[in-house]
Amino acid sequence: MAENKEWEKPVEKKGWFHIVLRCPPLPPILQRLTVVLVYATLISAFGSSFQYGYNVAVVNSPSPFIQQFYNATYLERYGRPIEANFLTLLWSLSVSMYPLGGFFGSLMVAPLVNKLGRKGTLLFNNIFSIVPAVMMGVSEIAKSYEIIIVARFIVGICAGLSSNVVPMYLGEIAPKNLRGALGIVPQLFITVGILAAQVLGIRNILGNSTGWTLMLGLTGIPALIELLLLPFFPESPRYMLIQKGNEKTAKKALQRLRGWDNVDAELSEMHLEEQSERAEGRLSVLSLLSQCSLLWQLISVIIMNMGQQLSGVNAIYYYADSIYASAGVKQNDIQYVTVGTGAVNVFMTVAAVFIVEATGRRLLLLCGFGICCGACVLLTVALNFQESMTWMPYVSSIASVIVYVIGHAIGPSPIPCVVTTEMFKQSARPAAFMVAGSVHWLSNFTVGLVFPFLESGLGPYSFIIFSFICLFTLVYIWLVVPETKNKTFLEVSQMFAKRNKVEIKLGDGDL
Ligand SMILES: *[C@@H]1O[C@H](CO)[C@@H](O)[C@H](O)[C@H]1NC(C)=O
Repeated sequence: MAENKEWEKPVEKKGWFHIVLRCPPLPPILQRLTVVLVYATLISAFGSSFQYGYNVAVVNSPSPFIQQFYNATYLERYGRPIEANFLTLLWSLSVSMYPLGGFFGSLMVAPLVNKLGRKGTLLFNNIFSIVPAVMMGVSEIAKSYEIIIVARFIVGICAGLSSNVVPMYLGEIAPKNLRGALGIVPQLFITVGILAAQVLGIRNILGNSTGWTLMLGLTGIPALIELLLLPFFPESPRYMLIQKGNEKTAKKALQRLRGWDNVDAELSEMHLEEQSERAEGRLSVLSLLSQCSLLWQLISVIIMNMGQQLSGVNAIYYYADSIYASAGVKQNDIQYVTVGTGAVNVFMTVAAVFIVEATGRRLLLLCGFGICCGACVLLTVALNFQESMTWMPYVSSIASVIVYVIGHAIGPSPIPCVVTTEMFKQSARPAAFMVAGSVHWLSNFTVGLVFPFLESGLGPYSFIIFSFICLFTLVYIWLVVPETKNKTFLEVSQMFAKRNKVEIKLGDGDL
C-alpha cells in the first residue's frame, strides 16, 4: 500500500472525537490527535481488547446448546448419556480455561514485548486468536468437546497478552496529554466486546443450536482485521528508540503519530525519562516480596485484586443466563436482561472515568464493595422467595444484578489498578503489576471453575459466598488501605510505615 499522505497532515480540529478528548484546555501544541494515532488506537483496541471482552461473555448465552452438543458427542462415543456432574465439569473447564490461559499469557508479556516490540506482539498475538477461532468453529464437525476446551485455553493466552500489551502500546504512542484519555479506550472496548457477545447471543441471532459454532469462531474476525491493518501503523517510538536504539525509525514513527516534523524535543525527553528510570533500577518480583517497607502495600494489592474477582463479577458474565433462569425469569426475557446489563456496564465504565478522577479511591472502593455485597444478599433473598411470590423475585433478581454491575463498575473494577500505580514507585511498579495480574487471572479462573458446582451444591445460597467475600474485602480496605489520591509515594509509605514496622525517614531518596 502506498504511503497515505493524508496521515501526515495535521488533523482537522473540528472532529467530534477531537472535541471529546479536548475537554480540559490544553496548550495548543499538544492538542493534536492525528488520524494515525486515532486509527492505531481503534484498530489495536478492536483487534485485541474487544476480543478479550467478547470471549468473556461468549460462553453465556449459547451454553445450553453447547452442553447439548457435549452430551450428544458423549452419547455417540460411549453409547450412554453423559452424567450430570461430568457435564458440569466439562462445561466449567470450557469456561475457566480462558482465565487460566490468561494467566500464562500475562507471564509471556515481558519477554515478548521486548523481543517483538509492542505492535509486533499484538500482531503475533493474533495467532492465539485465529487458531482457536478455527478450532472452535470446526469443533462440531470434528465431534470433539476437547477441541473447545483447548481452544478456550489458547484464546485465553491471547487475552492475557492483550490486556497488558494494548495499554502499553497506547501509552507509548500517545502524546503525554492524551495518555489518560487513551488509557480508557482498552477498558471501554472490553465492555463493548462483552456487550457484542451478549447481543449476538440473542436466540434469534446466534445463540441457538446452529449458531453457536459461528458465534465462538467469530472471535477470529477482529484478530484478522488487526493482522491486516495494524502493520501499516508505526511501532511504539519509545520501543524503537530505547530497546532497539534505532533513532531513525523512532523519529519517523513519531512524526507520523504527531503529524509534524519537529519531534526532536520529544525524542530527547524519552531519552531522559529512560535514564531516570534506569537510574532508579527495577525491582524483581522476588525482591519486591522481600521488602519489608512494601509488605502491606503488596498484601493490599493482592486482597483488592482477589476481592475484585472473587466477588463474582465474572460469574455474572460467564453464567448470567443460568442465574436468571434459576430466579424464574422467562427464557425469552433472559436474553434482553443480559444485553441490558452489558449496556449498563458500558455506560458505567465511561462514567467511572470521571467519577474516579473526582473522588477519593478509598471511598469508591468502600461504596463499590458495599453495593456489591448488598446486591448479592438481595439476589440470594430473591432466589429464595421465588416460589412463594411471583413477580417479586423476578424483578429483584434483575434489579440486584444491575445494581451489582453498577457497584462493581464504580469501585472494585477500575480502582485496584489505580491504587497499585499510586502505592508503588516506578522501580517497583512492574513487579507489583505482575503480582496483581497473576492474582487477577488465578482468581478469575477459580470463580469460573467453581461457580457451576457452587450453584448446583448451594442453589440459591451460592451468592452468599460472594457477599461474604465483598464484606471481607470491604473491612480490610476500611482498616488498612489509606486514601492514595494526590499522595506522593513517600506519603503513602509513611502511612503504611507503622504497619510495616519500618521507619521512613524523609529525604532517603524515595522522593
Ligand atoms: C443428555 O441427553 C439425554 C438424551 O438426549 C437426556 O435424556 C439427558 O438428560 C441429557 N443429560 C444431561 C446431563 O443433560
